[in-house]
Amino acid sequence: MARLLSIVTSHTLASWANASPQVDYALHCTGCHLPDGSGLPPDVPSLRGDPGRIAALPGGREYLIRVPGSSQAPLDDTELAAVLNWLLVEFNAETLPSRWKPFTSSEVAKHRPRVLEDPARARAALFKPYEE
Ligand code: HEC
Repeated sequence: MARLLSIVTSHTLASWANASPQVDYALHCTGCHLPDGSGLPPDVPSLRGDPGRIAALPGGREYLIRVPGSSQAPLDDTELAAVLNWLLVEFNAETLPSRWKPFTSSEVAKHRPRVLEDPARARAALFKPYEE
């Protein structure tokens, strides 16, 4: 009975956890980026503002998928796309371009395997053309 109960409970928890990108964010991202996305700069970047700018840069969408925190999260491609879309809308409303298109699971699947080895360098390269 106890075992049955625990199977039922873990199943319920699993479907609950899969139900929402907000819950996936809470489970897999807040440990470092904090519930409001503010992070702990400079060690952990804030997810408020810059991701919206990055999404508009050439190569930026790919970068957001390939950073280790995203690409290596224990989420499937559909769930990771949903978490990225959620945090862009939730934390980056002011910087996200109006013509922005949400991530799809196939876009995530395409870029995710190439986990960034040097995220800071990749990030600097994204912004470089726009520096004075
Ligand atoms: C263990 C701590 C940790 C966890 C957990 C984590 N991240 Fe991160 N994240 C970082 C760090 C550190 C960076 C800076 C790049 C690097 O060194 O990996 C970063 C960078 C990022 C960036 C790029 C931001 C920018 O402005 O360049 C995004 C987007 C991101 N993380 C999303 C996520 C998402 C989504 C999750 C949850 C699925 C997550 N992260 C989980 C630590 C974490």
